[in-house]
Amino acid sequence: MKIEIRKDPGALAEAVAQELVRISHEQPAGGPRAAVALSGGSTPKRMYEVLARPPLLAQVAWDRLELFFGDERAVPMKHPDSNFGVAKRALFDKAPVRAHRMRAEADADLEYEALIKEHVVTLGAGALPCFELILLGVGSDGHTASLFPGTAALKERSRLVVMNEVPQLRTRRMTFTYPLLNAAKRIFVLVTGAEKKDLVRGCLNPNVKRPSAESWPILGVQPVSGKITFWLDEPAAEGLRIG
Ligand code: 6PG
Repeated sequence: MKIEIRKDPGALAEAVAQELVRISHEQPAGGPRAAVALSGGSTPKRMYEVLARPPLLAQVAWDRLELFFGDERAVPMKHPDSNFGVAKRALFDKAPVRAHRMRAEADADLEYEALIKEHVVTLGAGALPCFELILLGVGSDGHTASLFPGTAALKERSRLVVMNEVPQLRTRRMTFTYPLLNAAKRIFVLVTGAEKKDLVRGCLNPNVKRPSAESWPILGVQPVSGKITFWLDEPAAEGLRIG
């Protein structure tokens, strides 16, 4: 596990965007596209805006990436809450991307799972689809993607994408499950803001008593063989004891 700290959300967004440029060029030209799962949230949105303008817009090898979403709200694309809609307005309308929307408003989780199984490479017979990169945010309640505390999707161990009832928000969402998240080659967890510093310390400081993943779902994101990097701004990283 790696920790990267930057001064503020803008610097963090810039650094993560640069990583995406680098990852895109790691993929062989003309080969299969690398699967990248995007996230909702304020920090990823800043990153989309950075990628949508010079110089990075022309630096990303867009034709070597295939974009997905790790979760989505049960709303149409034009709704302000749509993760895809936010990314479309910030980036997709300005860059030659190939991106797949989750039709969460139609409960089309099986459809999206089939799309991933068709398009995302596995690392061997019977292996799970392996994303080159999955971007995640973390809510102050410890949720990530749309894996919220105490919700049914936390227990899912065979499906890769499910609809998840979220009573605390009186809604349902579509989300990747832990098996798919933890099969990824790289996971970037983006966390900004002083309001999350206790959560960050609880997740990352050594020798602290941590709640279960049932209470803090981000704690269940433990890639089987991939690498996880926490990208933090200084306010979120305050009080972190990095061993
Ligand atoms: C969503 C996101 C969600 C988000 C966190 C953090 O659909 O809301 O996928 O998991 O990443 O809520 O959001 P912020 O970075 O804006 O705090």
